[in-house]
Amino acid sequence: MEINFLVKKLREERILLREEFKILLGSGGEELHNAAREVCEEVFGRDVYIRGLIEFTNYCIRNCNYCGIRSGNSKLERYRLSLDEILACCAKGYELDIRTFVLQGGEDDFYNDERLVEIISRIKQNHPDCAITLSIGERSYESFKQLFNAGADRYLLRHETANADHYTTLHPPDLSLASRKKCLQDLKNIGYQVGCGFMVGSPGQTPDHIVDDFLFIKELDPHMVGIGPFMPHADTAYASEAPGDLNLVLNSLAILRLMKPTLLLPSTTALGTLSKRGRELGVLAGANVVMPNLSPRDVRKKYMLYDNKISTSDDAALTKSRIAEQMQNVGREIVVKRGDYGDV
Ligand code: 5AD
Repeated sequence: MEINFLVKKLREERILLREEFKILLGSGGEELHNAAREVCEEVFGRDVYIRGLIEFTNYCIRNCNYCGIRSGNSKLERYRLSLDEILACCAKGYELDIRTFVLQGGEDDFYNDERLVEIISRIKQNHPDCAITLSIGERSYESFKQLFNAGADRYLLRHETANADHYTTLHPPDLSLASRKKCLQDLKNIGYQVGCGFMVGSPGQTPDHIVDDFLFIKELDPHMVGIGPFMPHADTAYASEAPGDLNLVLNSLAILRLMKPTLLLPSTTALGTLSKRGRELGVLAGANVVMPNLSPRDVRKKYMLYDNKISTSDDAALTKSRIAEQMQNVGREIVVKRGDYGDV
């Protein structure tokens, strides 16, 4: 009874009290997922948006405690894709009906504004009907602005946790939540469609921290939110930590869908790694975006943010067709569209 009441309240008021959020987060379950799915279908129908992920560099100057491509991981063989290789990934993606390309990489100084502007301009020249999303970490306002002017449409920068103390435990001292928040605000002010996001089950995370994430998201009002379970990586200090809990991830997705019905909400690779049916379950709990990997097969194993990441030995076509099938299994259809925020 109480869960039903809270689901109804969240659906109507799009916000709850901290204690109410904690109850839904801990024991939301099917009623919560069903309501989120219903709301998602009211807005998007059967459509699922698709983004092609191009992991173009695994060099990173940052040393985040959880991340497999952290600068301190000396076991990792580093790579950068050339401009031509990136363009080839996009061409491949275009053939596969993908109309958004996500350029994701570590924070790599090699990719200064000039190089990135060239990459963005060339992709836009080749594919004027496609959107470009950047996911390349923290940069200055001026840099964000230049990349936007060059044609980048969207930017993903997960805040990772909205609790400042928790942020400090997950990151080295040169990173702060305040700086992350400033970047997100800058990106919004410039005019990007902006995505933040967090890991569920990262070491030291409590239910209160996740509620902090919800409240921060309410305040920032982003266009997208990327959520996935924390997954341990063998060459980090968190190697023997437990992965995030499936139900907590699904409840978080569903809560966000009810908080903001038009939100772009991916069912992430990490969720697909945590559980065989993870991506389907994400969609059944209110997610409406999938992000297959377009990176060349020979570099995929070098972009291991966490252990056992799926699809690392498949090519782009196979990854996409697998995901398309998963979506069909749950009565959804991947659409040939950019899938901008507010399209519907
Ligand atoms: N487990 C799950 N997600 C991770 N990320 C980085 N390392 C891990 C991990 N060990 C996520 C972060 C980052 C995104 C690109 O990948 O949230 O923002």
